[in-house]
Amino acid sequence: MCGIVGYVGKERALPRVLSGLKFLEYRGYDSAGVAYLFNDEVKITKEVGRISSLEKLIDLDADSYMAIGHTRWATHGEPSVSNSHPHRIGKFTVVHNGIIENYLSLKEDLKKKGIKFLSSTDTEVIPALLDYYYKSEKDILKTIKKVIGILEGSFALGIICDDDKENIYAVRRGSPLILALDKMGMFIASDVPAILCYTNKYILLEQNEIAKINKNSYQVYDQNLKEIKKEVKTFEGSQDAAMLNGYEHYMLKEIHEEEKVYLDTLNYYVSDNSFKETMPEFKKYNNIHIVACGSAYYVGCIAKNLIENYANIPVYVEVASEYRYKKNFYDSNTLVIIISQSGETADSLEALRRAKNDGIDTLAIVNVVLSSIAREAKYTLYVKAGPEIAVATTKAFLAQTTLMALLAVRLSRKNELLKEFVGVEKYINEILSRNYLDYAKEIAKSNDTFFIGRLVDYALCLEGSLKLKETAYINSVAFQAGELKHGTISLITKGTPVIGICTCHEIAPKTISNLKEVAARGAKIIYITSEEVEDNFYDKLIILPKLADLVMPIITVIPLQLIAYEVAKLKGCDIDKPRNLAKSVTVE
Ligand code: AGP
Ligand code: GLU
Repeated sequence: MCGIVGYVGKERALPRVLSGLKFLEYRGYDSAGVAYLFNDEVKITKEVGRISSLEKLIDLDADSYMAIGHTRWATHGEPSVSNSHPHRIGKFTVVHNGIIENYLSLKEDLKKKGIKFLSSTDTEVIPALLDYYYKSEKDILKTIKKVIGILEGSFALGIICDDDKENIYAVRRGSPLILALDKMGMFIASDVPAILCYTNKYILLEQNEIAKINKNSYQVYDQNLKEIKKEVKTFEGSQDAAMLNGYEHYMLKEIHEEEKVYLDTLNYYVSDNSFKETMPEFKKYNNIHIVACGSAYYVGCIAKNLIENYANIPVYVEVASEYRYKKNFYDSNTLVIIISQSGETADSLEALRRAKNDGIDTLAIVNVVLSSIAREAKYTLYVKAGPEIAVATTKAFLAQTTLMALLAVRLSRKNELLKEFVGVEKYINEILSRNYLDYAKEIAKSNDTFFIGRLVDYALCLEGSLKLKETAYINSVAFQAGELKHGTISLITKGTPVIGICTCHEIAPKTISNLKEVAARGAKIIYITSEEVEDNFYDKLIILPKLADLVMPIITVIPLQLIAYEVAKLKGCDIDKPRNLAKSVTVE
C-alpha cells in the first residue's frame, strides 16, 4: 500500500513526481525516495518521514526529465533511509509496492552469487535479479519477463535501467498501477489522484502486464512480451475531490459530504421508489457470506442484521484474512459479497479469488472504480462516495451501509420498503450540523473507552470503537451489551467513558440495564439512542430521529465519526494520516 509515481517527458520530472507522491501519501508514508536521471546518471535521494522531509533534500529545478518515486509503508525492514525505495543494484533501480513472498530464498541464492545487499527489505531482490539476468539476456524486456516469472507475491514496479536513458519500465501483479498520458510526457502511478493535476487520461495495467513509457509514447506487453492494445480511460472525478475545499482535514470534509454521498448512491440505484437497471435482480440465494476487513467488515456486520431481518436469508460475516484460509461451506446457492472501499485490499482480493476459484457467485461492493476487486467479481455494485483520501473511512462507510440496505430490500423482493429511504438526507444534514465537542472532551480525558450495544447497534459500536482507535489512538473496545458483566466489567473504574448505542425499541430496556450496571461502578455514560428515555441514568445524551430499522444505521454512524474526529483534534493527532496506518492495505 505504498505510492509509486514515475514521469518521463519534456517537462522537469522531479516536481511532477514529488507532487504526485504527495497525493498518494495517504496510501502509506513511513518513508519516501526518488531516483532521477541527471547529467546522464541515475541519482537517488531517500528520507524517512513525510514527502515534505524528502523534498527538503531535492532541487526541484534540477534538469532531470525522467524520475521514479515511492512512498513506503514498510512490510519487510523497519522504516529507515536504507530500507526506503528506490533500491538499486548494478544497472537497475526499482520502486515496489507489495510483498515478494519468496524473497528470503532468492536473497540467499543471490548472496551465494556474490551479490551484496544494503537493506533488509524484500524489494531489494528485484534489482538484484534484474541485474543478474540482464548480463545474459542483454535485453531489458526479456530480463523483466524472466524475473517476474521467478518472483512470487504481489508487486507494482517502476524500473530504470542505466543502459536505457529514454524509457521507464513498469510491471503490475496484484498491487495496482496505471499509466497516464500527459501532452508533454507519460506517467506511471499507483492511483489516479497522483496525476490528476496534469491529466485525466489513464490506462489500467492488468495482471502481469509490462509497460514501457517514454516522452512520446508507450507500449504495453503481456507476460510473453506480446504487445497489447490498451483502452485509454478518462477519469471523471475532479481535482478538488482530492483537495481540502476549505476544511481543516480530509476526514471532516468527507464526513460533511455524506448527505451528497447518500443521495448519489441512492439515486444511482433507485428512482421513483423503484430499482433502476443498475441494481441486478440477483437470483434467490439461500446463503450469503460477507467478507471484508476493518470498517468494511463492520459494514458487513450491519448488513447481516438487515439482510436476515428483511430478506430472511442467513448471512455469515467473515474477516477476509481468515476467510481465505478457513473451511468454507458454500455452493451454487451461495453469494459471496466482498466489501471494500479501495477495491485493492489484498486479503479481500484473495478471498474473492478463492470463492471464484471454487465456482461461487461473487459480488463486490466497492468505491474505487475499476479497482481489482471491482473488476474480478462476477457482479459489482459501486458506492458513489468519490475519492476518499483520509485514512479513516467515513463517507464510504455510510455509502456502503446505504447500498447494503438497498441490497437487503432487493433480496427481500419487497420494493415497497424503498420508501424508507426517502428524506433520510435531511436527517443526515441535521445530525451533521450538531456540535459533538462536549462528548469528545469526556472521552479525551481517558485512555480507555467502551462501546456497548446489541445486534445492529453492536456492529455500530465496533465501527465507533475503531474510529476512536485509529484517529485518536484511544484504547477503545466494543462489546455486546450483555457480555460486559461476564468479565470485562472488572475494567470499569470511576470516570471510564462508556458509550451505549440503542436504536432497537424491543431491546432498549436490556441495554439500559447494562448501562446502569456500569454506571453503578462509576462509568461516565454517553447514551446514543432513537428511543424515548425515561430516567437520567446517563451523563450525556444524543437523541437521534426514529427512522425505520432499515436506514437507522446510516444516520447512527455519523455521531460516532464526528466524536472520534473531535477527540483526535483535541489530542492533536495526525487525523488524515494516523501513525502506522495506510489507506489501502495492498499487502497481506
Ligand atoms: C477504515 O477506517 C480503516 N482504515 C480500515 O479498517 C479499512 O476499513 C480496511 O483496511 C478495509 O479497507 P477497504 O475497505 O479499502 O478494503
Ligand atoms: N514490501 C516492500 C517494503 O517493505 C514494499 C512495501 C510497500 O508496498 O510500501 O519495502
